[in-house]
Amino acid sequence: MNKTILITGASTGIGAATARTLAEGNTVFVHYNSSEQPAREVANEVGAAGGTAHLVQADVTTEEGCTQLVNELKTKTSRLDVLVNNAGGLIRRNPIGDRLEWELMEETFRLNTFSTMLITSLCLPLLKNGSDPCVINLSSIAARHGAPSATIYGACKGAVDTFTRGAAAELAPDIRVNAVAPGVIDTPFHEKVSTPERMKQFAEKCPLKRNGSPDHIAATVRFVLENDFLTGETIDVNGGLFMR
Ligand SMILES: NC(=O)c1ccc[n+]([C@@H]2O[C@H](COP(=O)([O-])OP(=O)(O)OC[C@H]3O[C@@H](n4cnc5c(N)ncnc54)[C@H](OP(=O)(O)O)[C@@H]3O)[C@@H](O)[C@H]2O)c1
Repeated sequence: MNKTILITGASTGIGAATARTLAEGNTVFVHYNSSEQPAREVANEVGAAGGTAHLVQADVTTEEGCTQLVNELKTKTSRLDVLVNNAGGLIRRNPIGDRLEWELMEETFRLNTFSTMLITSLCLPLLKNGSDPCVINLSSIAARHGAPSATIYGACKGAVDTFTRGAAAELAPDIRVNAVAPGVIDTPFHEKVSTPERMKQFAEKCPLKRNGSPDHIAATVRFVLENDFLTGETIDVNGGLFMR
């Protein structure tokens, strides 16, 4: 493909799978925050698959972190074809009835929503130099239906969906902007926020009777980037857990 691609949060889970899926023939910026060793392994896998990998570290929960990330990118490339805003997470569960914590609300929005919006904006000069440039944001099934105790997170991803449509309208026809909304995917995301019992219950509730793998989402990211008539869309990949 010969694309230049930035994947935020590519050290583990969906971001890592996306880096592997898009590796061949492409230059992939593998962003991470704290998981340096896993990120190095992903970069090695990108190289082994016939791609070129660059590691880039930043905490995207701050304006400085997002700016530092894009500034570093600009020292290594003058163009970007694909931006995957994948870094994110639930942080911790907080039922509304327990009183919502202001700091958690802020932190969750910074991680999932503010970073997506600011990094997209900061990358525009690079994307404008790209070929069929596109932005792909990671949303969630939590934005689609009520996700008890993950309501803050769901609201953050709802904002990501709205941002996706707004940016798609604003940046057309030059840059496509879409989102992918995974269902329950077996990644390190759930290690701190979902017990094995809860994961089993998710799988039982799912019509396909299983949780998804990061590769299911990476394949969808690839589909979105390859379909040049797609913009402003959020694609659900959830085994039927949410149907519309
Ligand atoms: N797994 C699911 O069931 C599921 C469902 C719906 C949506 N999603 C969404 O899919 C995306 C990927 O999730 P995942 O399941 O692959 O989770 P994951 O394995 O926990 O990966 C999260 C990634 O985000 C990065 N990250 C976390 N905090 C960061 C920070 N402060 N600054 C920069 N990067 C940070 C992590 O980097 P380090 O480890 O290097 O710090 C890691 O690479 C997220 O946006 C998530 O909300 C996941």
